[in-house]
Amino acid sequence: MSPLEILPAEILPTIEIETERLILRSPRFADVPGMAALANDPAVALMTGRLPFPYAESDALDFVHFQAEARQAGKELAFAIECKESGNFLGCVGLRFPKRDSAEIGYWLGQRHWGQGLATEAARALIDHGFSTLGIATVTGECRVINEASRRVMEKCGLRYVNSGLRHAPARGGALPIDRFSLTRADWASFKAWRPAIVRGTTPSNELMA
Ligand SMILES: CC(C)(COP(=O)(O)OP(=O)(O)OC[C@H]1O[C@@H](n2cnc3c(N)ncnc32)[C@H](O)[C@@H]1OP(=O)(O)O)[C@@H](O)C(=O)NCCC(=O)NCCS
Repeated sequence: MSPLEILPAEILPTIEIETERLILRSPRFADVPGMAALANDPAVALMTGRLPFPYAESDALDFVHFQAEARQAGKELAFAIECKESGNFLGCVGLRFPKRDSAEIGYWLGQRHWGQGLATEAARALIDHGFSTLGIATVTGECRVINEASRRVMEKCGLRYVNSGLRHAPARGGALPIDRFSLTRADWASFKAWRPAIVRGTTPSNELMA
């Protein structure tokens, strides 16, 4: 059984998640040109285990088809990341369900959109959705050992380093050395419940709070 079976099948294509700056929604055919333009970049594709490189519009079209089927089959829940203000396609974030109670997160953004906290914003929203709506027990993530930005995104989402290993990545032509990360429901619930205390006799330093 997939975690997606908890939701009525008819709402699966329509799930949208709104954050401060982003809309996460089903990938559409209208995303194909933008998706291909942003993913056809070695700095993006070669850091992932799945994106082909070079990345053509036909790859984006296959992705949109595949994701619609995978979502309905309960295997994956991928979202296009859309800028709320401009409506532009920025990248993708998604969950895969290797086991009933576990989800693996993945994400990429076009290079021009890096460094603004957008991947963290999207990943946090999807992790919240996974724990709060889909009832999963663990969110896991993996990145190439050289991928400091992705490692940092996972850390900022509360995932902790678990171990290292090799991942079969046909799109990269073989096995990739990767680091694995994980966040349990209990730890996530603890972060979400964490509220600031009232501290008297001192004022918080903005530098320390950053
Ligand atoms: C990974 C990726 C999604 C991050 O997107 P992003 O929107 O720039 O991420 P955020 O801004 O939310 O956070 C990035 C963090 O990594 C840090 N970072 C970026 N490059 C870094 C580097 N070379 N070394 C160390 N830290 C780095 C940033 O400083 C930031 O951390 P901070 O907030 O503590 O300063 C983006 O770089 C990307 O699409 N890369 C290619 C595809 C990819 O790697 N996907 C993940 C596959 S596992």
